[in-house]
Amino acid sequence: MKNFCVELILQNSVTLKVLLLICYQFLCSENFMIKIQNISSTDTFLVRHPVLRAGKPIESCVFDGDNLPSTKHFGLYIKEKLVGVVSIFKNKNTIFNIENQFQIRGMAVLPEFQKKGFGENLVKHCENYVKNVNGTLIWFNARENAVPFYKKLGYNKIGNPFSIADIGIHYLMKKEIG
Ligand SMILES: CC(C)(COP(=O)(O)OP(=O)(O)OC[C@H]1O[C@@H](n2cnc3c(N)ncnc32)[C@H](O)[C@@H]1OP(=O)(O)O)[C@@H](O)C(=O)NCCC(=O)NCCS
Repeated sequence: MKNFCVELILQNSVTLKVLLLICYQFLCSENFMIKIQNISSTDTFLVRHPVLRAGKPIESCVFDGDNLPSTKHFGLYIKEKLVGVVSIFKNKNTIFNIENQFQIRGMAVLPEFQKKGFGENLVKHCENYVKNVNGTLIWFNARENAVPFYKKLGYNKIGNPFSIADIGIHYLMKKEIG
């Protein structure tokens, strides 16, 4: 009986240690440390600049309408480090005969944090925001390289590719929300 009790205590202590280790690993994992919050337009430059305007002057990171009250900027933080940004503008594209349209701009994730699901989190955050303000459509001009990313999230290409000076080939993409 005594041996049985000692064995039980030992086994439980091993189980307890394994459980504690799993909890510790979960608490330290990147996914647990993620938060998305509203940021200022100038905060976005920390990611816009290296990812979208590399080698260009910092002024090239300023977008028309960045500081309008209807424009929102979201930042994804991992352990307090800003690693991804996106901005959403209330902006009607006359191609779409629909009210309450929003445009995504400045979608960027630092290279070392790409392909980990953070871009998807940011787009979904925009979609939730648009739903909450009764928006009906999100559109944007997608860089050619990012089209497969947006397609995975349910966005469709509209029309032919077009070129934006100094940046490259883009596609108009959209998704109806709600
Ligand atoms: C495009 C970008 C924002 C995507 O962010 P990300 O964090 O790397 O993307 P995620 O990890 O959330 O990807 C979600 C899915 O899309 C896929 N994906 C992401 N980028 C892709 C790409 N360029 N080509 C093909 N698939 C891609 C991922 O593999 C993932 O697929 P899965 O769910 O099957 O695993 C990011 O790569 C980036 O900042 N690129 C440079 C700047 C840029 O092009 N911005 C867009 C301007 S329009």
